[in-house]
Amino acid sequence: MSPSGELARLLVRDLAQLVSPAGTDAPLRGHALGEVAVVEDAYLLCEEGRIGAVGRMRDLRPLDGEVEELDGRGLCALPGLVDCHTHACFVGDRVQEFELRAIGASYEELHAAGGGILATVEATRAAGEDGLRAAVRRHDDWMLRAGTTTFESKSGYGLDRETELASLRAIVAEGGVPTWLGAHAVPPEFEDADAYLDFALAEVLPEAAGVAEAADVFLERGAFTAEQARRYLVACRDAGLGLRLHGDQFTEAGAVPLAVELDARSVDHLEATGSEGIRTLADSEVVGVFLPVAALVLGRPMPPARALVDAGAAVALATDFNPGSAFCESLPLVCSLACTQLRLSPAEALSASTVNAAHVLRRADRIGRLAPGYRADAVLLDAPDWRYLAYHVGGQVVKTVLREGRVA
Ligand code: NIG
Ligand code: FE
Repeated sequence: MSPSGELARLLVRDLAQLVSPAGTDAPLRGHALGEVAVVEDAYLLCEEGRIGAVGRMRDLRPLDGEVEELDGRGLCALPGLVDCHTHACFVGDRVQEFELRAIGASYEELHAAGGGILATVEATRAAGEDGLRAAVRRHDDWMLRAGTTTFESKSGYGLDRETELASLRAIVAEGGVPTWLGAHAVPPEFEDADAYLDFALAEVLPEAAGVAEAADVFLERGAFTAEQARRYLVACRDAGLGLRLHGDQFTEAGAVPLAVELDARSVDHLEATGSEGIRTLADSEVVGVFLPVAALVLGRPMPPARALVDAGAAVALATDFNPGSAFCESLPLVCSLACTQLRLSPAEALSASTVNAAHVLRRADRIGRLAPGYRADAVLLDAPDWRYLAYHVGGQVVKTVLREGRVA
């Protein structure tokens, strides 16, 4: 705020480059996914939390009134990154499990033995709502430092009424986009998945639907079957929620056809998706979300990203930030993996982690681009070329982050 109480204007001047996904469409597919507009020697003007103008320095007209200035020399501006798939509402860690996996145990074995997700459920249930808020705040701070200005977070480590609802409220309170992952695992107090779903749909959904924007399910061997997922998702859709699925992570168990049948917003993971799934997804409106850190950490094959993009699928990238399979909040690292493991171009990776991720969250009209009228969320890279975002693997590329026109 300026002394007069007005929202200050901020001018970022003399940027080496300013980059944004081209056009105004969402989601971007095919060729358009890799089309970005790059302005050299650029400025970015933020006004009242939104982008007022972008362009070349030589076209910048004199501004009257109060304007704060930020020196962009040697920096590149890109849209604030959008993480459309995280599990940021958890307490405790699974570093012990990380060590066991390092010496040979598998993720599915640990899960079947009551570790994995259920170990985090125990810690999360014990935290209380203030503890959950503190955890989400800490994780948001990590994500922000890595350039994420909008994050989605799932619940799913409560799996009882009180903790699921408290998780969703904590996510909203800390500025996240809440997804009810009511079908993440079957908690120990239930005999089987069907008995748990009876409870979740009768006792948790009515209130969860008033807080969350979407619902998600882990459709996988050892978690929920396609039939159980359908029952859960149909009930959630009837309660007004958008639909997401964790699918084809280890096995193809029907997630892609179910996502298309139910007009889901996305199906995420896709490490095990085969040629029929690729065609089905590419011909649909469902976004395929790649989570390459989970594949890397668990030593799984990478998803068939190049084939999906070439077939015309709408795709996005996300971290899957969670304490088990992807303890990583960095979308720049995800972009590095996209370019080195998924065979996407830097421009495709940028669009997939900005405008297309925003589309999954139904916010592509407001975030994901550096263009007039969009929210003034931006990342300033300490780099002479915007492609350092993916090129500098694990590097400290993010220098400054702007959220709604203010240095965050
Ligand atoms: O997306 N696949 C299930 N859920 C998470 C992992 C959660 C955990 O291990 O705690 C995932 O990878
Ligand atoms: Fe996940």
